[in-house]
Amino acid sequence: MKPDVKAFFDEATNTISYVVRDPNGKAAAIIDSVLDFDYASGRTDTRSADEIIEYVKAEGLDPVWILETHVHADHLSAAPYLQERLGGRIGIGENIRIVQDTFGKVFNEGTEFQRDGSQFDQLFKEGDSFHIGQLRGDVLHTPGHTPACLTYVIGDAAFVGDTLFMPDFGTARCDFPGGSSETMYESVQKILALPDETRIFVGHDYKAPGREDYAWETTVGEQKAKNVHVGAGRSKEEFVKMRDERDATLNMPKLIIPSLQVNMRAGQMPPPDDQGDVFLKVPVNKI
Ligand SMILES: [Fe+2]
Repeated sequence: MKPDVKAFFDEATNTISYVVRDPNGKAAAIIDSVLDFDYASGRTDTRSADEIIEYVKAEGLDPVWILETHVHADHLSAAPYLQERLGGRIGIGENIRIVQDTFGKVFNEGTEFQRDGSQFDQLFKEGDSFHIGQLRGDVLHTPGHTPACLTYVIGDAAFVGDTLFMPDFGTARCDFPGGSSETMYESVQKILALPDETRIFVGHDYKAPGREDYAWETTVGEQKAKNVHVGAGRSKEEFVKMRDERDATLNMPKLIIPSLQVNMRAGQMPPPDDQGDVFLKVPVNKI
């Protein structure tokens, strides 16, 4: 079955959020939503999420799932805001526990911060399946960028998060804690083993050099033939060398510090202090 896919591009973080819908009904899933955040002022804004809400309401959709492909390091998730207004269950990969443990330590979160994934409604693992109306979703565990990364294969569409980008841009970095370029290569092979005509929807786009427009949809066949990092039969050794060398030159994403603290809590802010005020931490010389 071919789901209808509507993309929402957030230019501030180069993130693409998706609403995936059963073509024969009203059931839908929202994948990788964005809560706008201005770091300089510490202010959140819901304009990106409100755009999705407006679309969902205008189409009369019933979002049954609010899915995260992973704990994003470059934008805050709007999952709780969407859930409150639209319903749906918030899902992520079960290895979120590893991510929570790692960053629970980095941010010196006390014992009140649970590292068992219980902030989410559903923890998925490889081979799990779920439904969006008549549509079936299958879960591939595709670590490498982070330990908890998932690819959601829904009908003929694969939502790969930050594993593969558009063929002319390649793949995502593998140098975050728990990341691994070798593991990434194996995960990419899993995605490339899907039928060639499978549509691939990527989690970010940055316009590759020479390309004028943002793009987010491609196919398995196109990735196999043309991906500049892993296409055309590139070997694991070649990929690992290229990826590790390139990662050593990359700056941290602008919003990594707030993003991790919020996203490891399923999009919730840290608990307020006794005045009711909410603070995010900046760990010095730790990331
Ligand atoms: Fe990411």
